[in-house]
Amino acid sequence: MTTAHSDSSSVKEEKYTGRIIEDCYEFCGHKLKITRMIGANLQFSSTIWEAGLILCRYFEQQKMNFSGKKVIELGSGTGIVGILAGLLGGEMTLTDRTRTLMQIEKNISDNFPPAMMNRIKVATLNWGENQTEFSTNYDYIIGSDIVYSPSIYPCLIATLKHLSNSNTIIFISTKMRRVLDANEFHEKMLTQDFNSELVLRDEEDDVNVYKITKKCPGSNAQAQC
Ligand SMILES: C[S@@+](CC[C@H](N)C(=O)[O-])C[C@H]1O[C@@H](n2cnc3c(N)ncnc32)[C@H](O)[C@@H]1O
Repeated sequence: MTTAHSDSSSVKEEKYTGRIIEDCYEFCGHKLKITRMIGANLQFSSTIWEAGLILCRYFEQQKMNFSGKKVIELGSGTGIVGILAGLLGGEMTLTDRTRTLMQIEKNISDNFPPAMMNRIKVATLNWGENQTEFSTNYDYIIGSDIVYSPSIYPCLIATLKHLSNSNTIIFISTKMRRVLDANEFHEKMLTQDFNSELVLRDEEDDVNVYKITKKCPGSNAQAQC
């Protein structure tokens, strides 16, 4: 596993000695032990959100195979979804704010076989700030519960626009919090530049999973935009 940072800090050398909580899950035949670093001031990143579990379940239902595919995850949090996509074959980049990377790295080392570590890396990606340091040729972009802060929605869309081309498939699972304009984001803001299809609705948890592709006016399927 390698770590890329947009700043000079090296989370790899930090050792977290605070309180942790470990939870176990199983998806697609893979047992996952996920550690949350409580008290590390990770805020929303140290919770395992329903939207993340539901996106994992969607991958399971769809029998997703990411073999040979270049996949980036936005707002990885604990990393559970990106780690699962990696175990399903993806060439993974898990991203979040710098302070969260230590937790993601811990979960990668607990769940990813050493022989596969060359297929997964971790990087700081602050939406709207440093997305241009990343490639524009991802096969998949994934994100769970990343739509919850209206002031940052334009930055999130700018990030998705940079990372995607006409062949990229984006999966976003969202808790449809009305007060946070989740519906507005998916139905109005995103659809200016992207096609969006609701592929799973979990009524109980009020979570939607969307499959999203970039609108490329006047281009054929091979064109990059
Ligand atoms: C609600 S948590 C979801 C975490 C994880 N995807 C899950 O489903 O459990 C949202 C994540 O997005 C990250 N995030 C929020 N705003 C961000 C921004 N502007 N740039 C990068 N990451 C951001 C947070 O650090 C957090 O890890």
